[in-house]
Amino acid sequence: MNNVKINPLAYAAGASVTGVDLRKPLTNAELEAVTKAWHNHLVLVFPEQNLTPQELIDFTSQFGQVERNDNVPYYRHPEFPEVLLVSNKPVDGKPSQTRNTGRNWHADLTYTDRPAKGSALLCKEKPNVGGDTMFANLYMAYDTLSPVIRNFIDTLEAVHDITLIKGFSRRDPAQIEEMRRLNPPIAHPVVRIHPETDKKLLFISERVRNFVGMSEEESQPILDFLNRHATSPEFVFRHRWSVNDLVMWDNRATLHVALADFDQSQSRHMMRCSLLGERSGYVINVDEDQSAGSLKSALAAVS
Ligand code: SIN
Repeated sequence: MNNVKINPLAYAAGASVTGVDLRKPLTNAELEAVTKAWHNHLVLVFPEQNLTPQELIDFTSQFGQVERNDNVPYYRHPEFPEVLLVSNKPVDGKPSQTRNTGRNWHADLTYTDRPAKGSALLCKEKPNVGGDTMFANLYMAYDTLSPVIRNFIDTLEAVHDITLIKGFSRRDPAQIEEMRRLNPPIAHPVVRIHPETDKKLLFISERVRNFVGMSEEESQPILDFLNRHATSPEFVFRHRWSVNDLVMWDNRATLHVALADFDQSQSRHMMRCSLLGERSGYVINVDEDQSAGSLKSALAAVS
C-alpha cells in the first residue's frame, strides 16, 4: 500500500507524482510505483520537494549509482561533488559557466562512454516567467520512422562531441582545454535498446558531429533530419518550473533542452544529480575515421 499518485501531464512524456515526501527513503511499494511510472512517462515531476543537496543525493541514489561529475569537474556543489549547480548566479563575482547549460537538444553525458541513466533536477530559484525545460520521447521518435530509415540507422554509430555543447567556446579557455582532454569524441549506437523496457529508441542529439565511417558532409543532412524528427512537437513535453519542483528524467529514452526564454537578470538556480549509465560507447580516432568518404579528401585525391 502507498499514497503515491501519478497524473499524466502530456501525451508524449511527463507525469506528476504526489503523495510522497522525498526527504525520507521511499518504501519498497513507493519505489516500485515511482520506477514503473518513470519507465512509462519518462519524465516525473515531484512538486514541493524542498530538499537539501544531501537529500537530493539520497533520493537519486535509490535509482542507481550517483555520478560524481568527474568528466566536467566544474560548478559542482562545494561540499557535494555529486551535485552540479546549473545556475546563472555569478560565482566569485564572475559570470557562472553553467548559465547557458543545456541550450541544445541533448541527453546528459553522452560525451562519455557511460551516458547517464537518469538525472534529477531540483529548482531552487526561478525567473518570474520562462526558463522552461523541454523533453522529447525517443521511443516515439524511433517508432515513427519508416522501416527503410530504421533499417538504415540500425547499425549506425554516432560520434558525440563535447565541443558541440552550445556556447562551449565561450567558456573559460582553461576549462575548455581540460574538458576536451577528459572527453575525447565517443561513438554510441544510434539505435539503442533500453535495458529496462527492452524497447528500441533513437539515440540522437544535437551534440553529434557525424556517423562513424561517414564524413561530416555526408552525415549532416541525416543528422538534421533525425534531430528534427526526434524533437517534433508531438513527441515533446514542456515543463514550466515552480520552486522546489524536482524533475527526474529517463536520460536513455529522452532528449532535453533548457530554454533561454527569460530575463537573464533574474536568477535561475538548479541542482542536478545524475545516475551512472551502462557503458555504451568507445573513444574514436576522428582523424582516421574522417579520412574515408570525406568530400575534401576526395577532392584532394583528384587534384
Ligand atoms: C540540463 O541540461 O541538464 C539542465 C536542464 C535545465 O537547466 O533545465
